[in-house]
Amino acid sequence: MIHAIKGMRDILPPETALWRRLEDQAREVFRLYGFGEIRTPVLESTELFSRAVGAETDIVGKEMFTFQDRDDSSLSLRPEATASVVRAYVEHRLWERPGLTRLYYQGPMFRRERPQKGRYRQFSQIGAEVLGSGEPGVDYELLEMLSLLIARCGVRAELRLNSIGCPADRGRYHQALRAALEPVIGGMCADCQRRMHTNPLRILDCKVPADQPIIAALPTIEEFLDAPCREHFAELRRLLDAGGIAYELAPRLVRGLDYYNRTAFEFVSGALGAQNALLGGGRYDGLARALGAPASPASIDQAIGFALGEDRWILAMQADAGATGEEPLDVCVIPVGAAMTAPALALARQVRAAGFAAIVGDGARKLGKQLEIAAREGARFAVLVGEQEAVQGRLILRDLAAGEQREIPAVQLAEHLAPAREVAR
Ligand code: HAM
Repeated sequence: MIHAIKGMRDILPPETALWRRLEDQAREVFRLYGFGEIRTPVLESTELFSRAVGAETDIVGKEMFTFQDRDDSSLSLRPEATASVVRAYVEHRLWERPGLTRLYYQGPMFRRERPQKGRYRQFSQIGAEVLGSGEPGVDYELLEMLSLLIARCGVRAELRLNSIGCPADRGRYHQALRAALEPVIGGMCADCQRRMHTNPLRILDCKVPADQPIIAALPTIEEFLDAPCREHFAELRRLLDAGGIAYELAPRLVRGLDYYNRTAFEFVSGALGAQNALLGGGRYDGLARALGAPASPASIDQAIGFALGEDRWILAMQADAGATGEEPLDVCVIPVGAAMTAPALALARQVRAAGFAAIVGDGARKLGKQLEIAAREGARFAVLVGEQEAVQGRLILRDLAAGEQREIPAVQLAEHLAPAREVAR
């Protein structure tokens, strides 16, 4: 037997209906906030990710599916989509279009992580990016939009918020981190020992349990923020308070990608266990220029976005909202005898035209067997199409939940089905 590749999986009904519900809700919320959809390729040059996400991150350093193409160029399956969106923004000079660039995307991402509940090697993200403004109001609106999506899906999630300042702030912070780490680094994991020299901020993102007490005692970035970064963060917090959006300050939240500046955030769920980040995002001023955008005006280079993990979001919808995705089947049309198959198929067509979900039984089987199958398929009603009734323009309608049946005029079928469907949905 051939199995799906490790960490990659099939998503089957009824769960797929939950995915569609999430994607429909997200599209509707994005529409309300003026976003348009972007679709980018799943394969990009490896250099895009090493430059944008950072060669020193786990994502690029350890987790990408990378291969040499026949012309020897190095290609990677995208581990995330912000790099691709910014590449497209630069490639198509999207800042030349009027207004802010507000883009959303949905699709598969690939990271060669150790699979566990909520963590897969192929997973799906829904994300959105706003390019062309550094205003805290834009940060606020993105978080407000996310709160709306969370409410509409019935999931429970808490916002954790930090500011990681600008590169100069982080330069000062790195020095302080190195000084604090100097006496203890020998006891930390090999990755942290390397990160101490390459990018000490990454140490805050280390997941090794034994390193956590050391990390908890390290200085936080807050006191190293310069005045403009401090003011940006203060204004965002004022707006969140005014908008009634609750958050928790998370001074050690640094995110696992190198492009972030200033605002960094995650929404975490209590229902998910170890992989509890439902979504993450932040500001990434400077990335567009690093990928070739012009230096002025400065706003070209200012941007913020997020991505949510659909796989995890679905787990949260199941846990928090009790959602199953089961879609009720309204009717099983049962031909009583093989001769009634054609009239049963015609009736099913009419029933579907009236908006009811219908399947047709197998006239070669006994009536009792067909009723059994109808119940197993979850049909609310069975409609029996018998020879004698057909001649009289009548049908037998059987309520499978109540176990009752009655004869009705065929023309009244839709009326008899309608109230029951309202109850079922
Ligand atoms: P990220 O935090 O790496 O950020 O991923 C965002 C979300 O994707 C996570 O919070 C999680 O829900 C989901 N996710 C990540 N890895 C996996 C996995 N292996 N299995 C299942 N779900 C996963 C980004 O990707 C940034 N591009 C977000 C962003 C957009 N920042 C600015 N704009």
